Amino acid sequence: MRLRSGSRNGAGQSVLVTGAAGFIGSHLNLALLAAGHRVIAVDRLDDAYPRSIKIENLALAADHPSFEFHQLDVADPAMRPLVGRADIVIHLAGRPGVRGSWGSGFEAYVEDNIVATQRLLEASSEARLRKFVFASSSSVYGNGSARPSVETDEPRPVSPYGVTKLAAERLCLAYEEEFATPTASLRFFTVYGPRQRPDMAVARFIDLIGSGHTVPLNGGGAPVRELTYVGDAVQAILAAAFGAVHGRVINVGGGSLVTVRELAEMVADELGRPLTVAPRPAAAGDATRTWCDHRLAKSVLGYEPLTDLRSGIRAQVRASIVHPGSAEVHRSRTSTAVVPESAER
Ligand code: UGA
Repeated sequence: MRLRSGSRNGAGQSVLVTGAAGFIGSHLNLALLAAGHRVIAVDRLDDAYPRSIKIENLALAADHPSFEFHQLDVADPAMRPLVGRADIVIHLAGRPGVRGSWGSGFEAYVEDNIVATQRLLEASSEARLRKFVFASSSSVYGNGSARPSVETDEPRPVSPYGVTKLAAERLCLAYEEEFATPTASLRFFTVYGPRQRPDMAVARFIDLIGSGHTVPLNGGGAPVRELTYVGDAVQAILAAAFGAVHGRVINVGGGSLVTVRELAEMVADELGRPLTVAPRPAAAGDATRTWCDHRLAKSVLGYEPLTDLRSGIRAQVRASIVHPGSAEVHRSRTSTAVVPESAER
């Protein structure tokens, strides 16, 4: 695969996407190109999960004449000229995963989620950007309550990861206040769909159930999640990037609430395979419930989720089976999927 340099010629906006080789980035690249924009893709291609998966994600867009790729850390000074060429920055890069952010792992979360975002905002404050979109997380809310979480709720993250995402949101607002960089932070509620990160629940369940393994269920599978299909998440990003909204933090949910156990049952049903589970204690940092209030996204982004959970799970299951090269991806995912108990805190 050749990752080529592009030009600024042609219609549309120049959109810098960080984390472009990741799960959401791989879908966003294609949506931007299809809409006639130029994509300046940045990813450091780290080994948080198999690099081969990220290379495959990039390959989907690599041959498009309006796509260019730069292997770079977001905090690298070489980002400045790239930001200078962009009309819009969509900052997806970061250290994901809620449960691994305790203990000595925290420093890396601070570097990748807070320091890197500050560096990018610094570079952006010198550019004349139309918009800076930041990928935040429902984890800023913590355990949620008996009603959907609304943006005006006091954030009470229960994981260090959530704390770093909240700090990065606040940095966006501070840079907007002081330097007039128009920002929008989107609090995504557990995004799933084809090419989902292999450490996330649906991808793990597909691999484990599909290969006849037992599914470990943290908290006995009782945690409740609002899940968001990746195609819907991308629509929200596009609306935030190209619309008039700025200076806001906005929930992006999928409209489907499910217990983790029900999710595993749904995956088994779609695979046509039996489910065996091993209940485990609740994992530290794991929210007991996430639940999204959609009203702000509807009013300021015109956003409404379109993909119901069953259809989305079916799409992800099918993609894991029919995607060319899936056998290789499947094996590599399976090899990293069974996380030792001590690593899942
Ligand atoms: C996910 C992402 O990993 C975060 O990066 C993101 O910020 C967050 O969503 C969010 O949207 O706020 P999480 O909700 O924990 O975090 O999503 P999954 O990793 O897919 O886990 C969902 C649930 O399944 C959790 O309760 C987890 O403990 C459970 N799970 C996962 C299991 O019980 N067993 C497994 O093998 C994997």
